[in-house]
Amino acid sequence: MIIAVDGPTASGKGTIARALAAHFGLPHLDTGLLYRAVGRQCSLNHGNADDPQDALLACDFPDSLLRDPELRSERSGGLASRVSVHPAVRQALFDRQRTFALQPGGAVLDGRDIGTVIAPEADVKLFVVASVPARAERRFREMQEQGRAVSLAEIAADLEARDARDRSRAEAPLVAAADAVMLDTSDLDREAAIAFAIRIADTLR
Ligand code: C5P
Repeated sequence: MIIAVDGPTASGKGTIARALAAHFGLPHLDTGLLYRAVGRQCSLNHGNADDPQDALLACDFPDSLLRDPELRSERSGGLASRVSVHPAVRQALFDRQRTFALQPGGAVLDGRDIGTVIAPEADVKLFVVASVPARAERRFREMQEQGRAVSLAEIAADLEARDARDRSRAEAPLVAAADAVMLDTSDLDREAAIAFAIRIADTLR
């Protein structure tokens, strides 16, 4: 069984994907982390994330970088969204994601283009959304817990900028697959969102 979980930043897709993986006993890949690693490597190389050559060179990041806590920062998220625009970067990361999706027994992947590009044949496709205020509020609380000082308005502006870039790029834009089930988590708590996702997956698989 392949489960694809796509959606914008801070929609709850990561939480839902991890819970589905645990529930069905499947391996999980957070594909955003790969793009974050490319963005981070590009900055370590003193490259420009908007330059396709610099971004492509950064795809050669060491696996150890995937464990760097800095990848979770808003800065790495912004860099990820900039390097992910380049078709050569998406191509360089394709095989790794596709191989993960096709492993015997199945897998759960979350990202932006899993149901449309990486695994269009996925058995279960979820497109997780939430309003900007709901997502900004969640991100704000996460940041506070990590002791990072940021304003709610700053987070909301950043989310909208990242969404706009992800939705408008020419290659693999953020868009729901025609056969994806929409899940709006704006008014759901964690448990309710997870229960809903498990019910959908049980129905579709
Ligand atoms: O999901 P996350 O916020 O970690 O992703 C960071 C950025 O990586 C996204 O804003 C998006 O630009 C890019 N991304 C992508 N395709 C994916 C996963 C992430 O373009 N499958």
